[in-house]
Parts: sequence; structure tokens; C-alpha cells
Amino acid sequence: MGLEVLPLHESFVAEVTGIAPTLDVNDAIFKEIERAFYTHSILVFRDLNMSPEQHIAFTRRFGPLHIMEPLQFNLPGYPEVMVVSNVEDGSRPKGLKRAGWGWHSDGEDKIIPNAASFLYAIELPPEGGDTLYADMYAAFAALPPDIQAKILGRRARASRIELHNVHYPHLPALTEQQKRERPDVHHPMTRKHPRTGWTSLYVGRWCIDVDGLPKAEGEELVRYLQDFAVQPRFVYRHRWRVGDAVLWDNRCTQHCATPFDDTKYRRHMLRTTLEGEAPMQAERAVVRPAPHQWVAAAD
Ligand code: OGA
Ligand code: MN
Repeated sequence: MGLEVLPLHESFVAEVTGIAPTLDVNDAIFKEIERAFYTHSILVFRDLNMSPEQHIAFTRRFGPLHIMEPLQFNLPGYPEVMVVSNVEDGSRPKGLKRAGWGWHSDGEDKIIPNAASFLYAIELPPEGGDTLYADMYAAFAALPPDIQAKILGRRARASRIELHNVHYPHLPALTEQQKRERPDVHHPMTRKHPRTGWTSLYVGRWCIDVDGLPKAEGEELVRYLQDFAVQPRFVYRHRWRVGDAVLWDNRCTQHCATPFDDTKYRRHMLRTTLEGEAPMQAERAVVRPAPHQWVAAAD
């Protein structure tokens, strides 16, 4: 039984099979997995059986971990593991409820966004609760050339302060202290991936307007790009099974949770997160090449 990497979509996402359910693999196998991750942007693992220690250890092989704050949503004793869950312990929520119900990449509204996230399904509802993923290399490549030229080298403003109530209507408003901790950020709209060098469209739901354009024009461009990016042709739908884990690259994909009846059913997931870097501006378009040219690119 050897490692296999099986594409699940025509442009991105692959399933990795033939490895231990604990993800305890040797360095040669890990190198193959890492290469598959950078070329396919998203890896799906199935039938896993990982302890929090094993989940953390595997993720750490890709780079330093990011500890999500506030710590109230992290697994007790494991600050590296964030709990994405609607399960309550008495009346205390065990995790962050309704995380990601809307297209985004993790940390896009922060100065240093998260490089990647690795979500592991522990308990699932019988219906609903799929996660959608969209390929931002493909979205960039498919943009009309005049729009590509308009956004290359430009930045857009992401605002937690202005959009918190829009995206998290069920959570308390931000306090003045939280607002100071989450100032607006201005990220490149076209992002150069630090490993592959390929250009992705980097505009998600926290984006609000465009630097150097009149406000209304920038807002309109942002809305156009947000809609363009998530057309069905760029999207893979993950239908979770218990024991699945999905590792996604936040630098070149977006994702969106789909609803389920969270008054009736439980959905309990554990997530590790990789530390990111300040997004690099793509000064020129480097479209992701065809798959047979991928190997060299990711090394
Ligand atoms: C996340 C997230 C989506 C989901 O964990 O970052 O957006 O389907 N989750 O749980
Ligand atoms: Mn998310």
C-alpha cells in the first residue's frame, strides 16, 4: 500500500491515500505530501484516527503553527487546536459556532493571514454542513484581461470593524479594545504564492473597497470579484464523513461553510492552523501551469 494522490476536481483538490490513519509518515512520504499540497492547494484525507497530539505533529511538519485567539475556542490543554463546533458543555459553547458561513480565506482580515488550516471531522450532522472550496489560481486566470490589469499590483481594504456585524450577526459587537486589535488591513488583490510563485485572486468577504479608486467604484469592483471567484466552475464541495480531514491553503483558495440545522444536530470539528506571512504582491501575472509542469514548481 503506497501513497497515492487522486485529483477530486479538474483544477485543484486531491485525496491522499495509502498512509497511516495517524498521519505518522516518514520524511520521504512527507515530502510527496507537501509537494501534492502546493500543487493541488487542498488535500483530503479520509478514515483518519488522530489524537490532538498527532493532528498537531503532522501540521507542524509544514511550518510553525498559529495559535487562534481568543483562547476560549481552543481545545483545553491544546492551544494549537481550535474547536469549530456547535456543541455545548452545559451552557458553555465548546467552540466557535457558525464559523465561516460565507466565502473567505482564514485570516484575510488580519495583518498576517493564516497560511493554511487543517480541519478534522469528529461529529457530523446527518444533513447539511458541507464545506465549499474555490480555486483562486483558476479564478485569477479566468478574469478578463482588463480586470487582471486593473487589479495587478493593487491593494484592497479588509475591515473586520465595518463587517463584523454583517458576517457574525449572532455574536456580540466588537468592543473598542477588540477594534484596536483588529485594525483595517490593505492586502494585495493579486497574491504571489511564496512557494509556487503562481498568482491568485485574493479578495474575500472581509474585503470592502480598493486603494486608489473612488469608494463606489472600488466597492463595485470588490463585489464583482467576490462573485466571480466563487462561480460553480471554480468550486469543489466537500461532503464530510467522520474521520475526514481537509488541509487547505488560504493563500490560493477560499472556503465557505454551508448551513445545517444547528438547533437539532451536532457538528464538532478540530482545526490546526499554520502561521502565515504578509501577503506578497503579484506584480505580474504568473498563471498556474498545466499539471505536467507542476513538479518542479513546488520544489
Ligand atoms: C474554518 C471554517 C468551515 C466549516 O474552520 O475556518 O471556515 O465548514 N470552517 O466548518
Ligand atoms: Mn474559515
